[in-house]
Amino acid sequence: MPEIPREFITRLTESCDIGDVIGSYVQLKRSGRISKGLCPFHSEKTPSFCVYHDTQSFYCFGCGTGGDVITFIKKAENLSYVEAIHSLARRMGLAVPEGKEDITAKRRKTILEINRETARFYHKVLRSPIGASGYQYLRNRGLSDETIIRYGLGFAPDSFHTLIDYLHQKEFADIDIEAAAVAKRSSKGNLYDLFRNRVMFPIIDLAGNVVAFGGRVMDDSKPKYLNSPETMVFKKSKNLFSLNFARKAEDDTLILAEGYMDVISMYAAGFHNVVATLGTALTPEQARIIAKYAKEVILSYDADEAGQKAIQRAMNLFSEVGIQTNVLHIEEAKDPDEYIKKFGADRFRRLLNESSSVMDFQLNRIRSKYRLELAEDKIAYMKDAAYAIAQMDDAVSRSVYAGNVAQECGIEAQILVGRIDTIRRSNQKKEQQKQIRAIIAPSHATSAYKANPQKAEYEKEAAAEEMIISLILHRPELAKSILKQIPENLFITEFNQKVLAVLRQLSDEGQSISVTLLNSQLEEEERTAISAIAAKYDEFASPEKIFFDCKARLEEAQQNKVLQGQAISAEQFMRLKEKKRR
Ligand code: UTP
Ligand code: MN
Repeated sequence: MPEIPREFITRLTESCDIGDVIGSYVQLKRSGRISKGLCPFHSEKTPSFCVYHDTQSFYCFGCGTGGDVITFIKKAENLSYVEAIHSLARRMGLAVPEGKEDITAKRRKTILEINRETARFYHKVLRSPIGASGYQYLRNRGLSDETIIRYGLGFAPDSFHTLIDYLHQKEFADIDIEAAAVAKRSSKGNLYDLFRNRVMFPIIDLAGNVVAFGGRVMDDSKPKYLNSPETMVFKKSKNLFSLNFARKAEDDTLILAEGYMDVISMYAAGFHNVVATLGTALTPEQARIIAKYAKEVILSYDADEAGQKAIQRAMNLFSEVGIQTNVLHIEEAKDPDEYIKKFGADRFRRLLNESSSVMDFQLNRIRSKYRLELAEDKIAYMKDAAYAIAQMDDAVSRSVYAGNVAQECGIEAQILVGRIDTIRRSNQKKEQQKQIRAIIAPSHATSAYKANPQKAEYEKEAAAEEMIISLILHRPELAKSILKQIPENLFITEFNQKVLAVLRQLSDEGQSISVTLLNSQLEEEERTAISAIAAKYDEFASPEKIFFDCKARLEEAQQNKVLQGQAISAEQFMRLKEKKRR
């Protein structure tokens, strides 16, 4: 655990309001003690993300993420716990007391230095005789020196140790080089260069850090691209190639391509607002990142079957984050890179302008499955089309598309519109039911169950324990007296026992209980569980009665446990039997 004094953490969180901090990331609507908004950690259309002002914590009923203000910053900014404290302190203008530097932050910094040196090395090699083949390859693919420099492209020599030697020379340690994943350890335990005989594409994050690499072979061998594995500084799902440049274009439209080379070609042709995913399909996180920078996306995927499938997936993700999506129709070339090379930038610009709406794209795809001169097919087409159109949130657009399809099929528009409305009502019902289910019965995979697996077995008891914990968190002024009335071993589940022990310790030390203080003593998953608990039980009109009931329930459970002959000390057994008789 970090060396930052607990008193400071308490002071820091007390100096800010969680609503204000989260409010700068999420649009919140307050009613009473709770504010609600769209969860920044998963995609949703109706708010299930709650901020609790009295406990200064948050919890999302949709994805189960929760915590205090520090946890929020940690997750929102993708930082370590200690880094999040530093970030919040900066925001509040407080100086963090000197302590040992957080080990993970230090390691991260070293990895970034290694990555930067590595990128520099590959780039230098590209311009040297050893890199001649790589340089020729890139030039043959039409890249100018300017583009090569802009993207910091490089070449990894055909050797198992040139990079490692270079990094050793720069006095980096093996353990850090391995953590940066520019080298791997063999089964014999020796480090060797991961990338060999490949042209190198550094992947740069928004802060300008080199976070990873992609390396392409120069012939037909496999894999075509080798990408860095995930490291402490690199999460594939949270990065986009060239976003650092695209962001500077300050365009409301972003072009999303499949490949590194597509992006680079487009950039060189004057389209700067272009990014690509990193060797994987678009992720929800990436869609949310894009939503921060653009209002509209043009999907510029490959013309092959895989590309067309990927379009469908991407469209769904973008619709969830409220981004308008258009689709590029590339013909006579396999991808944008090849298209630009064949036909030039002007024709590509025309292609962009002619990109069609998602609905046109979907309807085209649906139509191509059917032969509309057959009555059966025509009916099936209208059915499928109605489902697709029903997904659109805008009523005017729905009616326009419904009109088009109706006309195409020679029926009255009103019939199709009616059908679409029925589908929408049924969808809405399903959506509502899903939400209600998520709120009343969080899935067993949620953090609460992960932190406390015994909940599955002792559901009622765990609920009583949680109620008591939540009561202490919500009414810290009662903590001392409540804790005094809880006998040792009252709690049944281990996790809640541990939480209670921490609360007791904090209270004995005379600290004022808070979610933050409790969190500072717990692990990541446990913190989320605490927020879930604090969020689930938050009405304490008559705290004494609630406490009394919970305690009674737990005592009864303890007795049953004993009578069922479960492991418990002989002394306890006697005591409980005595009690039962009375
Ligand atoms: P493509 O196979 O379409 O490659 O993969 P490309 O971008 O057109 O590359 P060139 O033009 O042949 O050089 C699209 C993207 O998928 C990832 C890469 O990010 C690539 O840019 N990919 C592909 C991999 O990560 N590994 C592979 O082996 C292949
Ligand atoms: Mn290509």
